[in-house]
Amino acid sequence: MVRRPTVGMKQKVCVVTGASSGIGEATAEGLAGLGATVVAVMRAQSPQAESAMRKIGTRSADGGGFASRMYADLSSQSSIRQLAQDIEKKFDRLDVLINNAGVNRSKKTMTEDGLESTFAVNVVAPFLLTNLLLGKLKASAPARIVNVSSNAANGSSIDFDNLQGERKYSVYSAYGQSKLALNLLTLEFARRLQGTGVTANFLHPGVVRTRLARDLNPAAQAILSFVKLFFASPEKGARTSIYVASAPELEGVSGKYFSNGKEAPAPTESYDESAASRLWQVCEQLTRVSDSK
Ligand SMILES: NC(=O)c1ccc[n+]([C@@H]2O[C@H](COP(=O)([O-])OP(=O)(O)OC[C@H]3O[C@@H](n4cnc5c(N)ncnc54)[C@H](OP(=O)(O)O)[C@@H]3O)[C@@H](O)[C@H]2O)c1
Repeated sequence: MVRRPTVGMKQKVCVVTGASSGIGEATAEGLAGLGATVVAVMRAQSPQAESAMRKIGTRSADGGGFASRMYADLSSQSSIRQLAQDIEKKFDRLDVLINNAGVNRSKKTMTEDGLESTFAVNVVAPFLLTNLLLGKLKASAPARIVNVSSNAANGSSIDFDNLQGERKYSVYSAYGQSKLALNLLTLEFARRLQGTGVTANFLHPGVVRTRLARDLNPAAQAILSFVKLFFASPEKGARTSIYVASAPELEGVSGKYFSNGKEAPAPTESYDESAASRLWQVCEQLTRVSDSK
């Protein structure tokens, strides 16, 4: 059990999912540099994950913090439950949970739980992990939930009959819908957590040069590799996450959307409370999370 008092970000415990690459890696590095205790959640051991962990560890040593790694496959509910248990056991507090991991699958694939993968990783995983860690977050209040969404939610809508590509799957609509769903759930968390000292906010990191679209077809990859030259670096993409996770002026601020390092209006559909409560129920049924707390 790691017990530390907190001053600023020093020794605040920050969990970052998807820390093996891209924006998550840069976010973990940035928080480590501020002296936070960073828990870098990675899907599996890989050369990419090793390299990310080395960089996070180096920044942590420079910042006087502490870096730890945990493995979890966020497409698997049993793996998410194990992760939550490991965090509960190892840390006596949890100040910041950054749900950053995400996928953008070009083809419909199913998880071991029988869910469509984009929906499982981008929506169900943050819902389940956050709910499982709520006790710890409340006990550590003031605490923050930070959800990495996308402006791909703009112009999207929730089709409850096609939440998991049951009728039709396209990479753009599945990804956009998953990010709009994350927006709805973030605002539902913010409403439910009023008065607890735990805030829930969401953000668009910008258009960032990462491996997110790694499974697009070769022709699309070739175009993307050129276009990516104009995208922001992961370090720049991580700035909004780090700001929302750590800025002292955001203490107590909840239910807000951030883009470009400042508060911004979220897509209008994100504020549909009846869709949010219906989606919450769907996620509860799929995870049976209220039974397991
Ligand atoms: N890049 C952009 O322009 C952009 C724009 C808007 C929003 N975003 C959002 O930013 C977030 C970070 O994405 P990124 O651009 O940095 O892409 P990325 O480099 O592909 O990072 C995604 C991270 O999520 C992890 N992940 C994916 N599936 C997982 C699973 N089943 N279990 C555990 N971890 C899993 C990946 O691990 P593995 O490498 O091991 O799979 C990786 O660490 C995502 O939520 C994305 O939707 C990105």
